[in-house]
Amino acid sequence: MNTVEPKAIAVGKELKNDLLLKALLGEEVKRPPVWMMRQAGRYLPEYIALRNKYSFFERCQTPELACEITLQPVDIVGVDAAILFSDILVVPQAMGLEVELIENKGPVLPQPVQQENDFKRITVPDVNDRLHYVFDAIKLIKQELNGRVPLIGFAGAPWTLLCYMVQGKGSKTFDEAKAFCYRQPALAHRLLQMITDTTIAYLKGQIKAGADVVQIFDSWGGLLSPADFEEFSLKYIRQIVAAVKEEAPTIIFAKGAWFALEEMAATGAHGLGIDWCITPERARKYAGNHVTLQGNFDPAKLFLSPAEIKKEVKKMITAFGPQRYIANLGHGILPNVPVSHAKAFVEAVKEWA
Ligand code: CP3
Repeated sequence: MNTVEPKAIAVGKELKNDLLLKALLGEEVKRPPVWMMRQAGRYLPEYIALRNKYSFFERCQTPELACEITLQPVDIVGVDAAILFSDILVVPQAMGLEVELIENKGPVLPQPVQQENDFKRITVPDVNDRLHYVFDAIKLIKQELNGRVPLIGFAGAPWTLLCYMVQGKGSKTFDEAKAFCYRQPALAHRLLQMITDTTIAYLKGQIKAGADVVQIFDSWGGLLSPADFEEFSLKYIRQIVAAVKEEAPTIIFAKGAWFALEEMAATGAHGLGIDWCITPERARKYAGNHVTLQGNFDPAKLFLSPAEIKKEVKKMITAFGPQRYIANLGHGILPNVPVSHAKAFVEAVKEWA
């Protein structure tokens, strides 16, 4: 079992539903907790209503809007945890880069970082100055949640943020970002360290504002070979986990990076997220018994009927076992999933007890 952190326990006491904290700390639960990555999003008509009125960054930067969106899946779908409504790209923005979110295209950074000269345009910012709106949102969310469920804060892993900061847009391969790392490793490491320093201050600020758990999203970790994942990703995730794990339970989700489960468990993180490309049995074998696993429902299976979803969820919990496990999807919920199917996923987990 992980050594128990005083703050996490103290916070747990104020919560009416502390299943997530218990599962992460390796304490016995009557059933696994359940939440869904990207649970605040476009599959909810209530989200779309706000999306039609305010721009993406307006929604992120206005604490009242971020709070309302964060609470939507708690109220509507009944998940066991809230996750802050924000985006991993607020960090590159705070570091000095312009970030746009373009409809049907995704994120665009018009002036990416590709050579030494570009470092003149970025800094390790004072997070209390540039990201205070996130901390304000967290304080408001905690107040509105009133202990109903814990709040998950998050940040992107340095490697995944580098992908966007160098490539300048989404990509299936992030070939330009990889070429930057391989051709100019010193610059890549300089950028990764700047992102890491910003992220540590940012996550500490989130915890101080009230986040009960933090998750590090390495959505593009699986694009790297095991050796390159160690060099360009895990080395920095390790620094972040070491800096925050005493303050709040920490989850690493490195999509596609199942090959590094053993090394990720060795960081001392409390939880490891996994996608659907590895069996629960093999994930447990690689990760060992001292870490909580989270996942790994294929998000496209939410297009099955509610009855079939429930059957699949029960199969998944049986395979993982109900202890040291958090039911979740293997990646974000897809925008066209019916709300009733998301509810079936959550209900199936709740029916376990
Ligand atoms: O999980 C949650 O509900 C909390 C909010 C959250 C968002 N983004 C809101 C969002 C979280 C945790 C993220 C993380 C994020 N953002 C990741 C890591 C997780 C993953 O999905 O791999 C990444 C890679 C991003 C970057 C990003 N933001 C992309 C690629 C896009 C466009 C694609 C898409 O899903 O629309 C976004 C926009 C974004 N972030 C939306 C939401 C709800 C959609 C915005 C909209 O159209 O309303």
